[in-house]
Formats: sequence, structure tokens, C-alpha cells
Amino acid sequence: MDDYSYIMGYGNVTYSRIGKFCSIADMVRINPGNHPMHRATQHHFTYRSALFGLGADDPGVFSWRRAKPVEVGHDVWIGHSAIILAGISIGTGASVGAGAVVTKDVAPYTVVAGVPAMPIRKRFPQDIQEALLRIRWWNWSHDQLKAALPDFRQLEIAKFIDKYDCLDGLACRPDINGNPVLRVNRQETIRVFSGTISGSNLMIAVEVTDSSSS
Ligand SMILES: CC(C)(COP(=O)(O)OP(=O)(O)OC[C@H]1O[C@@H](n2cnc3c(N)ncnc32)[C@H](O)[C@@H]1OP(=O)(O)O)[C@@H](O)C(=O)NCCC(=O)NCCS
Repeated sequence: MDDYSYIMGYGNVTYSRIGKFCSIADMVRINPGNHPMHRATQHHFTYRSALFGLGADDPGVFSWRRAKPVEVGHDVWIGHSAIILAGISIGTGASVGAGAVVTKDVAPYTVVAGVPAMPIRKRFPQDIQEALLRIRWWNWSHDQLKAALPDFRQLEIAKFIDKYDCLDGLACRPDINGNPVLRVNRQETIRVFSGTISGSNLMIAVEVTDSSSS
């Protein structure tokens, strides 16, 4: 489980990777282990054998479970008592309703609920989702988060995007034709002095000058 994520009481998580800033409610179970239904018995005694005085445990069952981890992105909210089954991926920004049983992958910024969990809506329109995935605020430093706290609290989402998309000066926001555009933040002037194409990426070298100080 990565930075700032938390799980409340009576949670149970096995063989999972959980990103940053995830909020996991009480009584959530992530990756409950499957039993070997294909054996003559699916009871513990064939793999937790030592517990029953029947010899060594069977590590094969545990590796089989480990091979189906649950992957949870960043800023995912998992509601009270939800269950996320083995091998499921939950995309960044998704929300899982209380009591849901998640049996299929959940796309980023999608709200799912029910048994089995089904998408009920998107948190944001597509362009906003894409911008948040570009901004990746979950990778900001603690100080950056602190400075941006009033904006997280107060800015309407489109204004938040306007302010923070392409913070580094070089934007990836597409124009109406889907082409990436350079965006200049603040008072900067950007001079492109060389460009090469590598696969589907355009690599450019730029010089940035801050005209507000001249
Ligand atoms: C999933 C959730 C976030 C959706 O909130 P929302 O987007 O405001 O959804 P709405 O209340 O408008 O409901 C939309 C539809 O989904 C259904 N729905 C909402 N939550 C549901 C749930 N947990 N399980 C099943 N169906 C649910 C509603 O009945 C409604 O169905 P309808 O369109 O047929 O009338 C919220 O309902 C929820 O479950 N929150 C979890 C709260 C929690 O567990 N908190 C723990 C503390 S961290």
C-alpha cells in the first residue's frame, strides 16, 4: 500500500498492490483467497495441512493465489463492506459503492456499485479524466500538496485542470484535432530549437525564458 492510502477497521487485504491516496472503508475485503474447487476436497486440510497434523503445507495453492493479485490505482475510494475478487484491476480515480462485489476490472474514474458491480457513472467527463491522469497530483511532494490544498478544496474541477494541467510548462493537452500542443504557463516564452521523431513520440528541445522578469 502506497503513501497516504488507508484502510479502516476490519479490512482484509491479500496479494494486492494499492496506489497512493486510496480510501478504503471498514470491512472491505480485497482478494479473498479462492479454494481449490477442482480437488476432491476444497477444504483447508489439503494445503494448510500442518494445522490439521497431516504434514507439510502445500505451497502450490499459495503461489496460485499470489499469481492473481488485485491492482488498485491511485485516489480510489472503496465503500463499506465491498469485496474485490482475485485478479481485478481498479483504475485510478474509481469509486466502488458500499456492498459491491467487484468481479470485473474497473476503468479509471468510473463509479461502480452492486452485486456484481456494474458501472453507474463516470466521476468526470473524458477530457477531465485525461487531464487528471496527466497532472498525476498523487506524485506531488508533501509541500506541493500543502500549497495546493485550498485549490483541492475550492476550485471547481475545470478550473483546477486549467491551473495545474501541464504545470511544467510543456503541455500535452490535445488541440481540437487531437494533436499535442505546447502551452505556456505564466509569462514564459518558449523557443523550440530542435525536434526529432522517435517512434510515435516527438522529442523537442526548448529554451524557456521568463519574460515577466525582464
Ligand atoms: C456508489 C456511490 C458512491 C454512488 O453515489 P452516487 O453517484 O451519488 O449515486 P446515486 O446515489 O445517484 O445512485 C445512482 C444509482 O446507483 C444505485 N446505487 C448507489 N449506490 C449503490 C450501492 N452501493 N449499491 C447498489 N446500488 C447503488 C442507486 O440506487 C441508483 O440507482 P437507480 O439509478 O436505479 O436509481 C454511493 O452510493 C455509495 O455506495 N457510497 C459508499 C459510502 C460508503 O461506503 N462510505 C464508507 C465510508 S468511507
